[in-house]
Parts: sequence; structure tokens; C-alpha cells
Amino acid sequence: MVELTFVMVKPEAVQQGLVGKIITRFEDKYFKLLALKVVNVSQKQGSDLYKQHQGKPFYDNLVEYVQSGPVVAMVLERENAVEMVRKMIGNTDPLKADPGTIRGDFGHSIDHNVIHAADSPENADRELKIFFMPEEIITTTS
Ligand code: CMP
Repeated sequence: MVELTFVMVKPEAVQQGLVGKIITRFEDKYFKLLALKVVNVSQKQGSDLYKQHQGKPFYDNLVEYVQSGPVVAMVLERENAVEMVRKMIGNTDPLKADPGTIRGDFGHSIDHNVIHAADSPENADRELKIFFMPEEIITTTS
């Protein structure tokens, strides 16, 4: 089924100039780019994005970190988009991520793991709304 997913390139990866390489991986796999922006994440956006981790020991650092520099947020579309992106980014911990995955190739540590992607279609819908107005998401790509 054709579906949307939400992806965010994290501050250290934007700083390192990895945005183009990461987008190329998705384009090479036939994802359609429906929305894209560079964002200075607010406290509210950061805490909303990561609300499922609230209460975990790493939560405060995570929300602070995502505000530490610009991120690149995007909405991608293709069949089975959520699962496919999760496969392409690899394990949350770059030390465990397979070579060939985005985190396996570019990630430094679990806190600096290059990229975030929604883990379900429901979360994709929730997360993309934190960053994009409906009119900012392209609906016709032909
Ligand atoms: P992300 O996919 O953005 O979702 C939550 C983030 O929390 C995760 O990537 C990691 O960068 C960060 N994190 C830090 N410690 C942990 C941990 N022990 N388990 C999972 N995520 C962690």
C-alpha cells in the first residue's frame, strides 16, 4: 500500500553535510519527496516528536539535542514506506547497525545516530503534522 512516512536528518548530520547523500539514498529507492524543510526545532516540537520516550533516562538529553542545531524534516511516499525507511536506516545504535544502512555507514553513537524515522504509519501521520501544515505537503507528483 502506498503510504507516507516522516524522516528527520538530525543536527550533527546536517552539520556534517550529509543531507544530500541521505536524500539520494531515498531517491535511489524510488521514494517521492512530498515535503522538505530546514527547521530550528522548538521545545514543543522536540517534546511532541519524542513524547513516546517521555520518562526514559535519555529523554531530556534527546529533546535538548534535537534543538541544538538545524534539522532537515521531510515527508516521503512510496509503497510500504515506513518499513522500507526503517530498514534503510538500520538499528537505532550505529554500533549495531549493518553496513549499508544509513546509521551503519554514517552514525557515531546512539545519541548521534544521524536520522530519525517514524516507526508506524500512525506515528508518521502524527510526526509529520508537528513539522508541516497540510498545504506544505505535495499531493500531486505527476
Ligand atoms: P530516534 O530514532 O530519533 O528515536 C529516539 C532517539 O533516542 C533515538 O533515535 C536515539 O538517538 C536516542 N536514544 C538515546 N538512548 C537511547 C536508548 N537507550 N534507546 C533508544 N533510543 C535512544
